[in-house]
Amino acid sequence: MMNPADLIPIPDPIGVPWQLFQALLLVGFFVHLLVMNAMLGTAMICLADRLRSKRGPTAGTGNGAGLLPFSIAFTINTGIVPLLFLQVLYGNFIYTSSILMARWWMGAILVLMALYGGAYWYQGLYGRRPGLSLAVLAATVVGMLTMAFIISNNMTMMLMPATWQRYFQNPAGSLLNTANPMFWPRYLHMVTGALALGGLFRAVVGRWQVRCGRKDGLALVKSGLGWFVAGSALQVGFGFWLLLALRTDVMALMLGGSVLATSLLVVALAGAGLALMFAIQARLWPTTTAALVTVGAMVLIRDIVRRAYLEGYFLPDRLQYTSRYGPFIFFLVFLILGGGALFYLYRKFKSA
Ligand code: HEM
Repeated sequence: MMNPADLIPIPDPIGVPWQLFQALLLVGFFVHLLVMNAMLGTAMICLADRLRSKRGPTAGTGNGAGLLPFSIAFTINTGIVPLLFLQVLYGNFIYTSSILMARWWMGAILVLMALYGGAYWYQGLYGRRPGLSLAVLAATVVGMLTMAFIISNNMTMMLMPATWQRYFQNPAGSLLNTANPMFWPRYLHMVTGALALGGLFRAVVGRWQVRCGRKDGLALVKSGLGWFVAGSALQVGFGFWLLLALRTDVMALMLGGSVLATSLLVVALAGAGLALMFAIQARLWPTTTAALVTVGAMVLIRDIVRRAYLEGYFLPDRLQYTSRYGPFIFFLVFLILGGGALFYLYRKFKSA
């Protein structure tokens, strides 16, 4: 029997201490998660609205049609950030699992292009050809769910070098990780989380419209908060399933085994409970604050889970670094310049 650790490539040294990349990975993923949730949640809610309304598009789906292409562009761009830092810190895991599922991983690019095209097509069809526009929206949502499915497979397969030995029975690049007990609850937790945060995003858009003097914004706030409550209730259920599906020693960390992991779980649960309570009382900003705290705590817990799974093999803490700060400073300078340019464009857009 082969030792799974033999399948893990030896990592290259990095230029600066790993903690700098770790911070960027976490911040980048937090932003990607929020934007991805707004995109996927908006798309799923628009589809549900369209299926429920026999009279064709409603006010909420109109907003969705306009927002989808934007939100996809932001999802892709914010996804690149964690992808870069994940490769720097965990390249020896994520590259290997990407190769094992290469057909799916490379297929994701085609799925992404198709769903992006679908969102623009839906926008163009909006308000006319009800049957076709509904079919295009449904296909776009299926594309998004497929993307999430492929990514979740990779993000969980990278944690389990012992399962990589399946390559010797299936070297075709078509492996998935769906048989792992953690997979389905994690995927469903992510998708229902998107439903909740997509609802919250709708409510925020509605509030903004009310501020701009549009009365129909009120209906969006109400329906958005309703979706937030429904999505959160589902998400909490899948979250508990996920907790129980983790490897026993990893689950134990969150149930008293580690002060940090347990405290984060308590914060996340309290945040979710408060967010639900505020949403039921229709208090939008307290709901948003509590939801953001919950997502932040969940992002940290997810990282603790990743580290716990990989601890026996390797951790970024063990990466050698060469103290070559030049490329990192170069990166930071361009990050600031890029951020400044975006801010400038935003102000121009707002004044227009
Ligand atoms: C329709 C588009 C997308 C959807 C629905 C989506 C959804 C998701 C989901 C559900 C996760 C969490 C997976 C898990 O932990 O089990 C995730 C993580 C991630 N996504 Fe996206 N994503 C999309 C586009 C992208 C793109 C285009 C990129 C890269 C260019 C990307 C990069 C990432 C990375 C790197 C992570 C993991 C970060 C980490 O583990 O810290 N995503 N995405």
